[in-house]
Amino acid sequence: MAYNLLKGKKGVIFGVLDHKSIAWKVAQRAYEEGAEIVLTNTPTAIRFGEIEELAKTIHSIVVPADATQVKDIENVFQVAMEHFGGPFDFILHSIGMSLNVRKNRPYDDLDYDYFIKTLDISALSFHKIIQTAKKMDALKEWGSIVALSYIAAQRTLFRYNDMADAKAALESIARSFGYIYGRDKKVRINTVSQSPTMTTAGSGIKGIDDLFDFSDRMSPLGNASAEECADYVITLFSDLTRKVTMQNLYHDGGFSSMGMSARAMTMYARSLNCEECAKKLEEEGD
Ligand SMILES: NC(=O)c1ccc[n+]([C@@H]2O[C@H](COP(=O)([O-])OP(=O)(O)OC[C@H]3O[C@@H](n4cnc5c(N)ncnc54)[C@H](O)[C@@H]3O)[C@@H](O)[C@H]2O)c1
Repeated sequence: MAYNLLKGKKGVIFGVLDHKSIAWKVAQRAYEEGAEIVLTNTPTAIRFGEIEELAKTIHSIVVPADATQVKDIENVFQVAMEHFGGPFDFILHSIGMSLNVRKNRPYDDLDYDYFIKTLDISALSFHKIIQTAKKMDALKEWGSIVALSYIAAQRTLFRYNDMADAKAALESIARSFGYIYGRDKKVRINTVSQSPTMTTAGSGIKGIDDLFDFSDRMSPLGNASAEECADYVITLFSDLTRKVTMQNLYHDGGFSSMGMSARAMTMYARSLNCEECAKKLEEEGD
């Protein structure tokens, strides 16, 4: 259902790889809500992914950019401003990648060249995007910038590896730059901490199926889907959230406030071969 929440607004979306990408769902929802979009991703992602397919359906253009390269980001914003006829209203940073995760390097045996890449791609790119937007005056007053994060920034989750450090830096950048951009240009900056989601990046975490199941059992509302994440992000781009800034906002079905749930404990009891305990827990309910 559309509410015209973004009628007349324009924005740049980083990170659409394929139809599973969270950025794909955000772009679709933003279009449905009346926004005009410019899409961007790396040349490789554009070649091997499905971004062009989405661009056709939402009447968007696609501009290649490696988000670790300031020159590329400048070009995206330049092209976007020409396309939109001036400054625009919102930016989505939906970018993450760790070669240490991909190549199964454990946290106590990290490859430091990979680690620097993780930080550059997954966190510094956020700073580069914001700094470039501010220098170019690419965003209108009361504009909104959102990046996607994960609770591993606050809590240690087995196998999330150096991405945890990247997410901690990402959330910190939202606070540090949120002050400056808010003070100078009334632009707000937030991160959305999303449930585990079955995307290409998500599936890169070994054991994501178990994590997904655990997280779902622990969350009173269940895991949040990519579509639900898009709904939430749309509100953050809309005028309904003009004074929300410098926040890390959990969009996780309640996971971040839980310690233990009956549904998770039932599984645990079963794995300890205590069927009687598991049945009792099930009777007690969720
Ligand atoms: N999937 C999950 O479980 C989950 C949970 C919480 C947060 N997130 C975050 O959501 C965001 C989007 O990930 P996703 O799950 O939709 O997966 P995805 O694989 O669809 O998206 C990741 C994107 O990052 C892009 N990217 C990688 N290197 C880049 C670079 N140098 N320049 C520009 N773009 C680059 C990829 O091309 C891809 O489009 C990431 O920040 C991820 O950490 C994902």
